[in-house]
Amino acid sequence: MRPTDRAMPKLVRRTSAAGALGAKQIWLVFLLGLGHAFSLPRHSLPVSRWRKNSSHRVAAGDVRHFLAGDASPLLCEVGARVGQALPDKLKHKELFEAHAVAELAQRHLTQWRSEGLEVQTAVELCAGCGLVGIFLALLDRRLRVLQLDRRRSKLAAQLHEMADSWDLHERLGWRVADLRPAGEEAAEFEPGSLVLACHACGLLSDEAMAAAVAARLPLILLPCCYARNPKALVRAKRGHPSFAWPRYPWLERGAVNRLGRDAVDAARVSFLEQNAYKVVYDHIDAEITEFNRAIVAAPT
Ligand SMILES: C[S@@+](CC[C@H](N)C(=O)[O-])C[C@H]1O[C@@H](n2cnc3c(N)ncnc32)[C@H](O)[C@@H]1O
Repeated sequence: MRPTDRAMPKLVRRTSAAGALGAKQIWLVFLLGLGHAFSLPRHSLPVSRWRKNSSHRVAAGDVRHFLAGDASPLLCEVGARVGQALPDKLKHKELFEAHAVAELAQRHLTQWRSEGLEVQTAVELCAGCGLVGIFLALLDRRLRVLQLDRRRSKLAAQLHEMADSWDLHERLGWRVADLRPAGEEAAEFEPGSLVLACHACGLLSDEAMAAAVAARLPLILLPCCYARNPKALVRAKRGHPSFAWPRYPWLERGAVNRLGRDAVDAARVSFLEQNAYKVVYDHIDAEITEFNRAIVAAPT
């Protein structure tokens, strides 16, 4: 008999006895029971040895493993909360990646502060589900985090709701906005901000960099999607958000893109250095993603 066959009649008895429960709650109890009953292959390993690029979703059955977790306590706490509150929604890869990116950002924020560069707000561009910013707000209690994306997914809204239980609501904001400006100018940011973009695809990473340079703000960029032939306009259209070559002179109207990933990042770094930025490459664990390189730049 499989573990679920044993568990189901018990659950049915329990739920029918609890006649006052609503249908939603009964399902929740049922799913939590199933999650507990199913033992997945990863459950025979400690959390630190789970596959970090897995597209399996964080499940209710993962909760007790996170709670007994041998990985970073914050990663395990958030993993457990996600498994409890939002089972089967968030990919394991997204959990590990968001935590790794936030830790990387926090390391550099600490270093910059020790050198006298104050950052009060992290502006996370192309924030996706928003978990990077949530981890960062949990790691850095002095920081406000403003997250921008052209849409707000249901998961992003649910994760923000979940983050309220950590009392983050005053330091965590979301704005729906297109990162591409509607014309020649780059987007604007308040002084004291850090521009942070994780996997803003292709030219969106260049757009983030253009915005940081225009405002002379520190930048943490983990680029991805290096198209060899990206499309951008020679002249930006007024009133229409668009990619426009004049905003990214380091790409030489796409000639650099044709040379591949390393050439594109080298051109980004070189442009930042020419504009009086101190730049270093940093990395998150390559087991999480092949796009694990971060360009970390602070104005000097
Ligand atoms: C690959 S996802 C990265 C999400 C998240 N940063 C992460 O690492 O998981 C790219 C995100 O960029 C957003 N995006 C795409 N085009 C955009 C634009 N023009 N302005 C703002 N956000 C955009 C998408 O909605 C999506 O959430």
